[in-house]
Amino acid sequence: MSERVSINSCTNLDELEELAGPILPAKSFDYYRGGACDELTLKENREAYGRIKLRPRMLRDVSSIEKKLTLFDCDLSSPIMVAPMAFQMLAHKDGELATARAAASSKTMMTVSTLSTYSLEEVKEASDFELWFQLYVYKDREITRDLVKRAEAAGYKALVVTVDSPVLGKREKDIKNRFDLPGDLTVKNLTLHNLDKFPASGGDSGLSTYIASIYDRSLTYRDLSWIVSLTKLPVLVKGILRADDALRALDSGARGIVVSNHGGRQLDTAVSTIEALPEVTEAVKGRAKLIVDGGIRRGTDVLKAIALGAAAVYVGRPVLWGLTLDGQEGVEMVLDMINEEFENAMALAGASSLEEITNDLIFKSGGEIH
Ligand code: FNR
Ligand code: LAC
Repeated sequence: MSERVSINSCTNLDELEELAGPILPAKSFDYYRGGACDELTLKENREAYGRIKLRPRMLRDVSSIEKKLTLFDCDLSSPIMVAPMAFQMLAHKDGELATARAAASSKTMMTVSTLSTYSLEEVKEASDFELWFQLYVYKDREITRDLVKRAEAAGYKALVVTVDSPVLGKREKDIKNRFDLPGDLTVKNLTLHNLDKFPASGGDSGLSTYIASIYDRSLTYRDLSWIVSLTKLPVLVKGILRADDALRALDSGARGIVVSNHGGRQLDTAVSTIEALPEVTEAVKGRAKLIVDGGIRRGTDVLKAIALGAAAVYVGRPVLWGLTLDGQEGVEMVLDMINEEFENAMALAGASSLEEITNDLIFKSGGEIH
């Protein structure tokens, strides 16, 4: 059976992970798949969706389903977006370029990581659609300022500042594997600053050593205000799990919140994101757009996230499995698969538009009359 036939035989995103695993070098697969410590949050992100039950509506005319939306002035075909993920050339030689082309072909938002293996300018050049840029904050403020200015100059439409990584989570496989960037792969955005290679790791994960040496772990909400002041772009804050933090982020000028635990890769036993979302939704009361990520693998997961207050979701690892298996086309297949599932779930739940995906679709034990 050719690789192409076997990909086409997949009917869900988990099967793509099973197929991609054996194709990738073990070190890369472990890095992509893994979570921190006992991987409890990684697992919980998925399991929490399974515990939420739906209350579908019947006889609601679902002959046409509308899932377009406008987010920070970007017209998107769907609320399912591609999460920022580092080092995509580990999966495929075209790396971020292939992901960006796939996202563009389906009018899907991709957020490009600071730690991309093609530069932010190269990725923008490859895409004829809108993109957002994810920012890691370096100790050297000139580097941070430079990244923001470059993203703005290249035409990125929003800045997603990741705040859950003052240090890297303890990823034990990466420590054992001494995870490093192979061959000629580099942190391409940092070439100008001479920080595009991991330093000697002395037995630790190379990425962990890199981050420990150059990320700013003294970051606070004051610095967030400084970042907001550097740019006209809307700023979203990624990695929030509590209502009070969401409100402080908004007070610091953020216009969007990404409820995320970094796919279970940072603080293990942190609350699952779908369980954290309701308190953030309640606190923010429509003052900002909410995005949620972590463990979204099914159309019903997207439906639940929106019912609980998200405007959109990020999908992470499955995009890397599609990229590994078949480059741009593989990513397109991932996006098509979850979008089709989402439309199927909308129809079966009796919601023909995103506005109709409301909180009453969620079953609450004890019952509730609407
Ligand atoms: C990530 N994530 C991430 N987040 C970020 O803000 N900047 C980054 O560079 C990366 N890099 C990265 C690499 C890899 C291999 C993974 C798996 C994840 C986190 C990512 O944006 C997102 O929060 C999670 O991946 C979402 O969870 P799922 O969908 O992978 O379960
Ligand atoms: C990761 C970083 C790079 O999760 O965000 O690997």
